[in-house]
Amino acid sequence: MEPIVQARDFSLWYGDFQALIDVNLSVPPQRVTAIIGPSGCGKSTFLRSVNRLNDAIPGVTTSGSLSVGKTKIYEPSTEIVGLRREVGIVFQRPNPFPLSVYDNVAFGLQTGADVPDRDETSQRVVDALEEVGLMEDLGGDLEKKGTSLSLEQQQRLCIARCLPTQPEVLLMDEPCSALDPEDTERVERLIRKLKKTVTVVIVTHNLQQAGRISDICSLFHLGRVVETSKTREIFHNPQEKLTRDFITGRYG
Ligand SMILES: Nc1ncnc2c1ncn2[C@@H]1O[C@H](COP(=O)(O)OP(=O)(O)OP(=O)(O)O)[C@@H](O)[C@H]1O
Ligand SMILES: [Mg+2]
Repeated sequence: MEPIVQARDFSLWYGDFQALIDVNLSVPPQRVTAIIGPSGCGKSTFLRSVNRLNDAIPGVTTSGSLSVGKTKIYEPSTEIVGLRREVGIVFQRPNPFPLSVYDNVAFGLQTGADVPDRDETSQRVVDALEEVGLMEDLGGDLEKKGTSLSLEQQQRLCIARCLPTQPEVLLMDEPCSALDPEDTERVERLIRKLKKTVTVVIVTHNLQQAGRISDICSLFHLGRVVETSKTREIFHNPQEKLTRDFITGRYG
């Protein structure tokens, strides 16, 4: 399988501080890849690099290469709006716009080159909301304000918001850390379902969660990749001492 996201000796600096050091990582399509590691090891930095969210931070520089599909995304010719349609991102705290549920999900379709007509937009919005189970939850009331939903529904709304552009990749940075166990389980079920159509890269602090939902697991430490492998290998047969120590809770 050709990787959908591939980092080759990818490094990133915040000014003088090097936060990612020669990261090599291949993310296979239609799988869930989990990035784990202690606080400050560069998980979010890597995730944000994949849709170039770090660009907005003054003093950020990179070297090496990072590809999504066949596109090397740090080449000057890369068009960022197009990239973000291909690569959605969901954060720790759900951040719906103070708009209706419908407008939240339609939002991403209104930018870029080919804005679909009203019928097509509405179809894609409904499909996305159905995919995440919100059509059912809301009984079809899409005029409700996104910000009035429960926290877990808001997070599913933020996931739905990424879907109408039919992205290749969905990035999730600790998407369940603000949720209780029951709500977490619901979002995890959704992630497992989504991987049939989209490749998921998820950062999690929760090792059990990584074990439950990921196919591939990558351990980061001090800006470097320590080990990437099938999740059960990482948990049951790690090759590196650092991985073993992290998995058994000796640090982190
Ligand atoms: N905007 C920034 N400017 C300067 N340094 C930053 C910036 N953002 C992150 N860093 C530093 O880069 C390193 C990696 O940070 P990052 O947020 O990627 O870690 P993380 O693995 O996501 O941590 P956590 O588990 O706490 O979320 C840390 O040392 C952090 O202090
Ligand atoms: Mg982080």
